[in-house]
Amino acid sequence: MIHFDPQGKIFTLGNERFRYVFHINAAGVPAKLYFGRPISPITENEVRAASNLAGDVYAYLDTKTNEEHIFDNPYFNGQTSAVEVPPHNSFDKRNSLIAINHDDDSSVTDFRYVRHEITKGKPTFADMPYIRDEDCTAETLMVELKDSRDEIYLRCFYSVFPDVDVLIRHNEIINKTGHDIHLTRAYSLCLDLQSNDYSLISLHGTYASDREVEEQDVFHNEIVLEENAGAKGFYHNPMAMLRKHDASNDHGEVIGIGLVYSSNFKISVMGTQMETIRVLAGMSDYDFYAPIAPNETFVTPEAFLVYSSQGIDKATHGFHDLIRNHLLRKVPEGMEKIVLLNSWEGNMFDFDTDKIIASLNAAKRMGVNLFVLDDGWFRNNDTYGLGDWKLDTEKIDLKKAIDHAHALGIRFGLWVEPEQINFNSDLYREHPEYALFDPRIDHPTTLRHQFVLDMTNPEARDNVFAKIEAIFAEYELDYCKWDFNRMLTEAYSKTLDRRYQHEIYHRFVLGSYKMLDRFVKRFPNVLLETCSGGGGRFDMGMLFYSHQIWASDETDVVPRSSIQYSTNLFYPMKVIGAHVSARKLLSIKEKGALAMFGTFGYELDPCGFGQSKFDEVKIANKRFLDNHDTIFEGDYYPLMDPYKTNFVSWMCVDKSKDSAVIYFMNYRHINWRARFLKLRGLDPKKTYRNNLDGKAYPGDFYMEVGLNLSDGMPSLTPYVIELKAK
Ligand code: DGJ
Repeated sequence: MIHFDPQGKIFTLGNERFRYVFHINAAGVPAKLYFGRPISPITENEVRAASNLAGDVYAYLDTKTNEEHIFDNPYFNGQTSAVEVPPHNSFDKRNSLIAINHDDDSSVTDFRYVRHEITKGKPTFADMPYIRDEDCTAETLMVELKDSRDEIYLRCFYSVFPDVDVLIRHNEIINKTGHDIHLTRAYSLCLDLQSNDYSLISLHGTYASDREVEEQDVFHNEIVLEENAGAKGFYHNPMAMLRKHDASNDHGEVIGIGLVYSSNFKISVMGTQMETIRVLAGMSDYDFYAPIAPNETFVTPEAFLVYSSQGIDKATHGFHDLIRNHLLRKVPEGMEKIVLLNSWEGNMFDFDTDKIIASLNAAKRMGVNLFVLDDGWFRNNDTYGLGDWKLDTEKIDLKKAIDHAHALGIRFGLWVEPEQINFNSDLYREHPEYALFDPRIDHPTTLRHQFVLDMTNPEARDNVFAKIEAIFAEYELDYCKWDFNRMLTEAYSKTLDRRYQHEIYHRFVLGSYKMLDRFVKRFPNVLLETCSGGGGRFDMGMLFYSHQIWASDETDVVPRSSIQYSTNLFYPMKVIGAHVSARKLLSIKEKGALAMFGTFGYELDPCGFGQSKFDEVKIANKRFLDNHDTIFEGDYYPLMDPYKTNFVSWMCVDKSKDSAVIYFMNYRHINWRARFLKLRGLDPKKTYRNNLDGKAYPGDFYMEVGLNLSDGMPSLTPYVIELKAK
């Protein structure tokens, strides 16, 4: 998968479906030659032709001989060359990959090749999430460069897998200067494209509108997807795609860009005057000034590129398979098919032991196998308690509730929010320094009556972890909802060495990762769902630890449909938390039609349910359980875009193409309107029976003629259509 041609110093990486090729040019600069579908090997002979060297001739002064070197046949130039490590404050005026403030305050970087290594497997990190390679099928290239002015080394890592069309990158910056240097930027990957014929697909959002897809053309300026809120932010998600203008869902070139990181990030897509594009992805450089002490190494988080020569859907499958095959932890045994009931929307803070017991009895009738006691087990409102983690024994007898659940064969889980602290808590009163904010300002921001816990402080982490650990150990809980409800503001640690204050967003998330890592190692059999005021921290960093993420506090089917549609573009459904809620619109069965395309459950008060409601629940559960494997492990295809059409629709096809399940909703019914829903991803030769008209049709009929929905699809009514091969 990784080949080195010493003649032209050419590295060729990839698998059967893509190639990524670069070489070390005569100046020692790694320069990109090709990224695309597999082609004949690029050899020394093709190097010049594959490089864009138009523009200013590259020349330099040799300061040792005082001679100027001008190259007719330049190795690269600053405006058009595609390079792996664009320098800072140098000949290349596009954005740089790494920026350093040297000990003399110079900011010039100039990295040149020293050596490389090709190894089996891929790097892992002790303190950060990463793409896993448990079967050791990956190969990794490490290219070491040295700054021409200082003893600073840059190691660029590239990993490829045989089964996913992904190139994984990270960088390590090693300081051998003997004195401190400061990083002012440390991105993880650079991709220069020799065309600007692309548009950028990304997810933006806000609270309860967590991820909405949008697409914009790349012109002659920079598009920046950035998050500065620390470990929580809805505004942009750290995933994107570049779609070649002639590419569609199943045709043409699409390049995915992603990060395995949960704090401030940046994906910059810079269109240049030369009609090229430079993509940079990694940690955001917002308020970033990170010291590297002598002999220390700074490691950037992992970023990756997904390649598809067959349109958007294949890129989506690349993201999904990467997450499913190489990121997620295994779900605890016996918890593969969960139907949960969560107390939040149904009861909010208003419950006691009797109420929980009544809910559990109803849950049993519903066929629920996991009950989640959300916020409220230690308090009656959100103004106090975070940090103390003291069960409110007057409000509930937790042991009694759990014993009752277990007697009914229902597992039990709890909500926590470990990385936060209410100022109305004993912990804050005893340790105000555990709250993360600058104490010298008069009015530190409180959001939801709370501060962020200083996760850079090991003592604060240990204190809270010990309390959470004690509860999970004492009650032998099966599930944890790990929430995070406010962003970082006035970020300053009262205990962190002042040298690191401008690295605080990164150090904060490293602290969060440490606590999560401790939790999952201590409780490997607990199903973990992360959450952040809905889906404010929906990323691959979290998914290294958690099995699933609550997708949004918006549970109305109409807006939720587009949130899930957008989320599906990058994240597999098995990680997308989706519940049937008590919201007014639509019946349980109809709401279940959407929730089943995610980690399914209910979030309502079932205590007053009559038989007809229980019957609806049964239908919704059965549909979810029947289609579980197709939805969780199959391939996803969008069918109708809710942002461009009057419909929302998608489908999942299992990998063997024997079964498929479709979600469809008409926003506004127009009588007798022609509507043929063309299905995707089926085997054209197989015949599938559908449960809409009960008839069987060939796969190619469904895909070319379509499912005829021209009649009778009322407005705002979700449908699930199941297909089974005969
Ligand atoms: C925000 C989450 O998104 C909700 O589901 C719920 O857990 C509340 N927090 C509880 O405070």
